[in-house]
Amino acid sequence: MSLPWYHKTTLYQIYPRSFMDSNDDGIGDLQGIIQKLDYLKDLGFETIWVSPFFASPQRDFGYDISNYLSIAPEYGTMDDALQLIEETHRRGMRIILDLVLDHTSDQHPWFLESRSSRNNPKAGWYLWKDKPNNWHSMTGGSGWHYAKERGQYYWASFLPFQPDLNWRNPDVKKTMFEIARFWLAKGADGYRLDIFNTIYKDAQFRDNPFSWKLVPTPDDTSGFFQKTTYSQDQPESFDLAKEFRKLTDEFGEKLTIGEIAARREVLRKYAGEEINDGLTLIFDFEALQFKFTAEYFRRLIADIEKRFPHPFMPVYVFSNHDKRRSADRLGGDFRKAKLLAMLQFTLRGVPCAYYGEEIGMVNLKLPFKTALDPIPHKYTFAPRLLFDLLDVTVNRDEVRTPMQWDATKNAGFSSAEATWLPVHANYEQVNVERQKRETDSLLNTFKSLLNFRRENPALQEGSLELVEDLPDEVLGYIRKAGSQSLLALLNFGQKPRDVNLKSAETVFSLAVGDEAKDGVAHLGGFGGMILSVSV
Ligand code: NOJ
Repeated sequence: MSLPWYHKTTLYQIYPRSFMDSNDDGIGDLQGIIQKLDYLKDLGFETIWVSPFFASPQRDFGYDISNYLSIAPEYGTMDDALQLIEETHRRGMRIILDLVLDHTSDQHPWFLESRSSRNNPKAGWYLWKDKPNNWHSMTGGSGWHYAKERGQYYWASFLPFQPDLNWRNPDVKKTMFEIARFWLAKGADGYRLDIFNTIYKDAQFRDNPFSWKLVPTPDDTSGFFQKTTYSQDQPESFDLAKEFRKLTDEFGEKLTIGEIAARREVLRKYAGEEINDGLTLIFDFEALQFKFTAEYFRRLIADIEKRFPHPFMPVYVFSNHDKRRSADRLGGDFRKAKLLAMLQFTLRGVPCAYYGEEIGMVNLKLPFKTALDPIPHKYTFAPRLLFDLLDVTVNRDEVRTPMQWDATKNAGFSSAEATWLPVHANYEQVNVERQKRETDSLLNTFKSLLNFRRENPALQEGSLELVEDLPDEVLGYIRKAGSQSLLALLNFGQKPRDVNLKSAETVFSLAVGDEAKDGVAHLGGFGGMILSVSV
């Protein structure tokens, strides 16, 4: 059994604005990323995903694009982008770009033309209506916005300055496909596809039905008392996944990963009924709100295995640029963060880590009123505590603070006077340089897990079987490929646990003391180990 590279790889998400600043303006950039490629190579990640760096008014920090074929000047030039692709490849790594197909910036020349009159050549490139229907946007409130030039409303799935393209217009589709081809031809290894499941809307714009759900969750975007029956997950979007796959196939084995916050039963449709007939990967966002218990993960894994059975491949992600950081969810406890990393890198699935996760960066609490992220400004009326209780990340600035490289000024991210977002105050304790020196740091745990994963085919492409009848709080699964069988045991409890085994040899220990002896596996609190077994 040999899987395509994109089913065996490990992903690392870079938010370019916050990763590394090479020209001291307080904003990360492409040359900054290039400077840090050796770090990522050494750490052991195989593929980087870079959030959008294209021309943009930056009201949603690059997810509002005004030219897909040019680079935002604060991030660099086209030459820098090409150099980034080349330098990544030179290190034997891969790079995927972030493609926003659903919407553009309202400053994109297409939209400026489209809104100027009802009969210009781009009049039908966006979704215009004389009267809004009842749909609300993904950020709350009606997604319809009035433009007096046309005396009509346009639809925006996300924020008002991000008008949705009309994919039923053949010129739009053709143009967006050309854009996708452009970067693949330049050597990009694939795409992360922004809100892929909202691209098509109901052709008749029927009203969405009522729902009891107030808060949308990562696995179900119904919320604000409305289902998304007609505004998301339309059959045409499933077809688009197939068509997009054909397009990327023109360029060889390319990775496509869908950002799809949808009900569980819908997710797989974007990967196709058959393998190789849809997007190659789909994020499973449910895990972004994980609970740190063996029982939670046992259920999640069993469910994901049903939804993405071999030869499909799931994706495990615990942090990204929109949601609470995983270490924050764990109260900054590094023992728990190590166990979570062990889980992520040993499950059957592509792991996707977010910059700073490898050193346990936590959220920086920031007020809504002064947020750079536009979303919190919609919610300044509500008490912060409410959102914390509902587990909703409203101010995404909190998870986008500069990468903490070392204990020098601005955490080594930039030598500017001020950085675009403040550096977290804990940077003198939590930084890459420090964790490189400490052998049992979270960073070094990431490194040894990534190494171990690369050296063991069972972890990259093996089957997964959950082990039953384990002590409370212990999660176990067997990964098997060819003649190799590995048993992973993870203790989600604080108390040490013993597991009786027939015969097994410890091949990986998370902490000193996690070891098997005389037919018993001894797991310390939050301990973990991998054993070579014969089954
Ligand atoms: C989802 C992205 O992850 C988020 O950061 C962005 O604001 C929206 N899509 C709109 O593009």
